[in-house]
Amino acid sequence: MTAPQASITSIEDLRRLAARRVPRMFYDYVDAGSWTEQTYLSNAEDLARIRLRQRVGVNIAMRNQRSSMLGEPVTMPVALAPTGLAGMQWADGEILAARAAELFGVPFTLSTVSVCSIEDVAEHTTRPFWFQLYMMRDRAFMERLIRRAHAAGCSALVLTLDLQVQGQRHKDIKNGLSTPPKPTLRNLADLARRPAWCLAMLRTRRRTFRNIVGHVEGVGDVSSLAHWVSAQFDQTLSWDDVRWVRRLWDRKLILKGILDVEDARIAASTGADALVVSNHGGRQLDGAPSSIAMLPRIAEAVGGSIEVLFDSGIRSGQDVLKALALGAKGVMIGRAFLYGLGALGEDGVTRCLEIMHRELDLTMALCGITDIADAERVILPVPDKDLIRQLA
Ligand code: GLV
Repeated sequence: MTAPQASITSIEDLRRLAARRVPRMFYDYVDAGSWTEQTYLSNAEDLARIRLRQRVGVNIAMRNQRSSMLGEPVTMPVALAPTGLAGMQWADGEILAARAAELFGVPFTLSTVSVCSIEDVAEHTTRPFWFQLYMMRDRAFMERLIRRAHAAGCSALVLTLDLQVQGQRHKDIKNGLSTPPKPTLRNLADLARRPAWCLAMLRTRRRTFRNIVGHVEGVGDVSSLAHWVSAQFDQTLSWDDVRWVRRLWDRKLILKGILDVEDARIAASTGADALVVSNHGGRQLDGAPSSIAMLPRIAEAVGGSIEVLFDSGIRSGQDVLKALALGAKGVMIGRAFLYGLGALGEDGVTRCLEIMHRELDLTMALCGITDIADAERVILPVPDKDLIRQLA
């Protein structure tokens, strides 16, 4: 776990580098939120508002952030979230990110709308990864995907519930987001400025949605994610469908996209093993509260009966600690690792995890805790917790 570049000391450094290296349409796909981006922005702003408790006079020489997520031991309680098109941030991106996560000792989640397939990732890793699924109209295809994930040894299925319709992201529409990019003048001019990205892409055979293309009859081209989503995602999704997935999958099941206490209670009654408090990184319902604002209530309501995970807005080890302090058992990171991937490939994902680990460790020390299990002690009890409640 060596630092590839000493000048990279924060996730923001990785973001800046990714913005230079990744073609604009794929960088924007990762970086943007929906509509006015108010929810997207409030995820980070509300996390920043939480004040930590500085403690002194505590023996902090031995510190531990090892923990578990869904019963799996983890080096720190941070999993890589399912993210579409990671293989467009860097050639073979999902394989590289999965390898970095495996070496670091944290879970990796492969998205249904990834570029590398379930089988591609399984072939290049030795430990089980998690697989993310959407509820699609074609149930036979879903069953086949579930069977493929099972055969590949995936230890958890992450069912996304908050993307039955895709939030409008202005930049994606304006950029004409497609995979691979269409050879328009604008795209060609942009690609010409990213020769390293282009060369690596020319060298790989993984350039389209390999979980889908070739696996669904009549589907040879899903270049436009937005079209695929509107044609395939099932808007009739109900909790009965969630129970249907539960019956099909005998390993861990995680329900992602819960932002409401009532939904959390229903989720906990489905037999799922975990839920993820999430507003999809501010990419779906703009105007929804930040995820961190909803976390304490949801954790309080269902934390005793289902494992509560968290995502949206995490850009540092401090953010991780704050989410744990407010009731999460673990967090998922999306943009943070994708910036690393876009900046430096596998080394960038490793760098992202190292940065998070170090920030988490230092913050624990300065807050006077030695075990991550004591995270709840790092938050000033009032008025900040009340403030978070008011935000929701
Ligand atoms: C997919 O999950 C997306 O946010 O585009």
